[in-house]
Amino acid sequence: MSKLAILGGPKTVESTPRKYRSMGAAEKQAVAEVMDSDCLSGFYGSWGDEFLGGPRVKAFEDAWAKRFGARHAVSMNSATSGLVAAMGAMGLGPGDEVIVPPYTMSATAMAPLAYGGIPVFADIEDETFCLDVEAVKAAIGPRTRAIIAVNLFGHPARLHALRALADARGLILVEDNAQAILAQEDGKYTGCIGHIGVFSLNYHKHIHTGEGGVCLTEDDDLALRLQMIRNHAENVVEPLKLDNIASLVGFNYRLGELAAAIGTVQLANADTHISRRIAIAERLSAGLKDLEGITVPAVREGCTHAYYVWSARYEEKVAGVSRETFSKALDAEGFPHFTGYVRPLYRLPVFQRRIGFGNSGFPFTLTNRRYEGDLCPVAERLYRSELLCFETCMYDLTDAELDQFIAAVRKVHAGRAELTPTDLSRV
Ligand SMILES: Cc1ncc(COP(=O)(O)O)c(C=O)c1O
Repeated sequence: MSKLAILGGPKTVESTPRKYRSMGAAEKQAVAEVMDSDCLSGFYGSWGDEFLGGPRVKAFEDAWAKRFGARHAVSMNSATSGLVAAMGAMGLGPGDEVIVPPYTMSATAMAPLAYGGIPVFADIEDETFCLDVEAVKAAIGPRTRAIIAVNLFGHPARLHALRALADARGLILVEDNAQAILAQEDGKYTGCIGHIGVFSLNYHKHIHTGEGGVCLTEDDDLALRLQMIRNHAENVVEPLKLDNIASLVGFNYRLGELAAAIGTVQLANADTHISRRIAIAERLSAGLKDLEGITVPAVREGCTHAYYVWSARYEEKVAGVSRETFSKALDAEGFPHFTGYVRPLYRLPVFQRRIGFGNSGFPFTLTNRRYEGDLCPVAERLYRSELLCFETCMYDLTDAELDQFIAAVRKVHAGRAELTPTDLSRV
């Protein structure tokens, strides 16, 4: 084995990987057709044919509903908008609690705040990094209204178990499926197991429209309320003769025709884009699964993984070198990766200082819930010392290039004893 690059040896990966390009001629053609039509958005914010959007938005939603076998697909201009609209659609009110994981993109936990709701953090499993069902059960209280389960990094949370729990306790289960399009649990697509599933189409996702999102639901009432909140709900409660107008204050979360046209093409090719990610991830796992101290991504029985990222667990005590030292050595070998993902969200100032909207502290003035200490030990551990993610799935890689990446990790692992001993007493 050659000397580690960090110690002056040769670098294993010399070339910078190219980002995979999912936009092709069909997307260009779809955009050109929208330009020729001169209609870049078909929405009107009052009741009528155009309340539900223009022709491309409607075609996009139809395609999405068909692909997932869902009754309703409601497009949004982002998953963040979809999550907020989901909170409004279920009628969340000030002081109502929503159970969320702390280990996710911040939008998951911000969505309840938009309606004065209170996020309550439940810990995650260290196998899949998704919500721990027992922790969710323990977090349920008299004010709990909903659970937001995140299918993190492309792997399903325990969705059927959470749905059964939600149904038994009269709660709404929202799936934040921003990272897991076309993943499955027990033969059902993620995003279709909760009462509402929210997808993201931002630039970093498996398929994208620049920005964008979609909510799926089987429930007619929830679908209508999502459509209303997306498009100035307050203007249509009268023509629709709606009696219950709670939380029907609207926003502009509308998707444009250009994005919808691109999204329809992207969706048609989604299986190809995702199979490519799965192939990369599986080759990486096969090449690294025997390394002591590194646990390659688990795929729970009955599940398929969509590999938003390839997320491994690194155990410092077993490997004998801290994750940060190992990571620096990987950097030197030219292997693109990141560690830790996000600081558990309850560490954000909004929770630590309990200040949401205005200076008085709303909505935290409505609750005794506190966000102090290591609330969720598994998430803390993953953040501080265990999570090691490879961005490999987002690159356009030949098998030979991928094998160089595998060689880089194996080289650092084999030579780790030469790295400066690190104090692991904090683990
Ligand atoms: C888990 C999760 N939820 C929500 C979002 C928000 O998605 P968007 O950028 O479409 O609003 C993201 C985006 O990265 C995400 O990863």
